[in-house]
Amino acid sequence: MLRNKTKSEISWKEKSSMNTEKIRKEFPILRRKINGRRLVYLDNTATTQKPASVIEAITEYYEHHNANVHRGIYTLSQEASEKYEEAHEETARFIGAQNGEEIVFTRNATESLNLLAFTLGKELKKGDHVLVTLLEHHSNLVPWQQLKEKGIHLDIARVTPEGLLNERDFEEKLSLKPKLVSFTAASNALGTRLPQKKMIKAARDSGATTIVDGAQAVPHEPVNVQKLGMDFMAFSGHKMLGPTGIGVLYGKKERLESLPPFLTGGDMIDTVTEEKSTWNALPWKFEAGTPNVAGGIGLAAAIKYLNGVGMEAVAEHEQKLLQYATNQLQEIPGIRRYGPSPEHKLGIISFNVNGIHAHDVASVLDQNGVQVRSGNHCAQPLLNALGIKASVRASFYLYNDRPDVDALVDGIRSAQKLFKVTP
Ligand SMILES: Cc1ncc(COP(=O)(O)O)c(C=O)c1O
Repeated sequence: MLRNKTKSEISWKEKSSMNTEKIRKEFPILRRKINGRRLVYLDNTATTQKPASVIEAITEYYEHHNANVHRGIYTLSQEASEKYEEAHEETARFIGAQNGEEIVFTRNATESLNLLAFTLGKELKKGDHVLVTLLEHHSNLVPWQQLKEKGIHLDIARVTPEGLLNERDFEEKLSLKPKLVSFTAASNALGTRLPQKKMIKAARDSGATTIVDGAQAVPHEPVNVQKLGMDFMAFSGHKMLGPTGIGVLYGKKERLESLPPFLTGGDMIDTVTEEKSTWNALPWKFEAGTPNVAGGIGLAAAIKYLNGVGMEAVAEHEQKLLQYATNQLQEIPGIRRYGPSPEHKLGIISFNVNGIHAHDVASVLDQNGVQVRSGNHCAQPLLNALGIKASVRASFYLYNDRPDVDALVDGIRSAQKLFKVTP
């Protein structure tokens, strides 16, 4: 028997151009209950759930095509190689790269950024500057900190009290002529969007190599690397409906060609003698050893799914949900929100409830089936600058709807009651 729809579900359908009801059915995990309640998954910044089409693509690969790639002339190996190579092409089309040569599969965004710090780091000399921002995830900060051992200066552009990039400080630090400028397209801790295009242009005009950490942008909005013009971009498959263990490094062909390899060994070589080796063509020069073939195929299936929905629609849906959630949270007394207003953010809300530790809020929410992250969100310097140790973070994706936000709000009110902090 069909249950009656809640008022919130009806008005949401009217306002959202996306059919979340249909989308939700395509994610098997969303049928689960947590503590007897509807699963409300709001930790999409950390990782995302997988649609059946992604799970099936991986199973289909293992059931019908599994073999090592680029190593056999037999049918299975050729099929696996073709699918794996096509996954590079699909990824290239998704972000507007020229072709699969510009797409290196890694384990995750962290590995892509480490690859760059290791290889580009070799070109740097004592006294050179590298510029990042205070909005970085640790994965776009710690690898650059390692270069200090070589005598490199790491400059960090500051943020405004609302959690926006302090653009004047960025420009001032750009006048120190950094060799590399590496910044996140959006903060995973606050949701703040950075003015990517402007920053890339300014950095390129000052002669720097530009790197964008696209881990939070690529899953949530249309991204075209040729229009944006960065030299390199890193992102993770698992944050965009794909499996874990597959990440991407995009690089302009000529830039990737000029870099030395990162990991060495099988697959990434052309010829090997007892004395020396030469390197394979792009992108294989950067994919040493047996790659994550199933992961690449799963990522391609995830991209097909996102294309089917449309990235404009995904971005619009999340923005509407963010606006709704922001309004709902404003109604609750005793909440401190961090980060700028919705028009400057992705679908991420970072907050604390007065008088209750973030982990306790997350724990009460869990009792209500609501899965949120609490802690420092791998952005300790940013949280320190904001004067906090931890926050609760709710982050949205295409399968979230208004009832999810309502469950979040109800859970926060329950926590306030339980901890007797109702203002
Ligand atoms: C902005 C940003 N960059 C990089 C990463 C690292 O991603 P991964 O853990 O998949 O390497 C994350 C993960 O949350 C992130 O949000």
